Amino acid sequence: MKIMVINGPNLNMLGKRNKAIYGDKTLAEIEALLGKEGKSLGVEIISFQSNSEGALIDFIQQHSVEASGIIINPGALTHYGFSLRDALDDSGLPVIEVHLSNIYAREKWRAKSVIASTAKGQISGLGWLGYVEALRTLVGELKKET
Ligand code: DQA
Repeated sequence: MKIMVINGPNLNMLGKRNKAIYGDKTLAEIEALLGKEGKSLGVEIISFQSNSEGALIDFIQQHSVEASGIIINPGALTHYGFSLRDALDDSGLPVIEVHLSNIYAREKWRAKSVIASTAKGQISGLGWLGYVEALRTLVGELKKET
C-alpha cells in the first residue's frame, strides 16, 4: 500500500520558519519520521513538496492510481486553492488534511479551509505529530476496508 504525503507552499522552510508556530523540525525530519512509521505499518510513503499549486496537482494526478490515500498540508493553499481541492476530489482517494498550527486560533482568514469539504478529516494544531496521527488513522481505516 502506498500513501502520498504532500506539502504545499513554504513548508520546505520548516525548521527556519517561525518556530514558535510551526515547531523546529525540518520537513526532511518529518518525512523521515513518517517513513519510519510507514515501515512499521507496512506501507510505502511517497513524499512531495512544492511551492506551486500546478506541481502539486500534477503529482496527485500522476500517483492517484498507485496510491491508496493522501495526507496533505496544503500550506496557505488551504485557504484559496480551489484547483488543488478539485484535484484531491478527482483522485477519489481518502484525504486527511494536516496543519502544524491550529488554523482556528490564528488570523481570521486562516480559519477557512477550502480543502476540508473533500477531506475525510482534519488535524490542526498538533505540530509534526499531526502527520503521524494522520498516517496511523488513514492506514488503519484502509486496512479495515481490505
Ligand atoms: C499551515 C497553516 C497555513 O495557514 C499556513 O499558510 C501554512 C502552514 C500549518 O501547517 O499550520 O503555510 O498549513
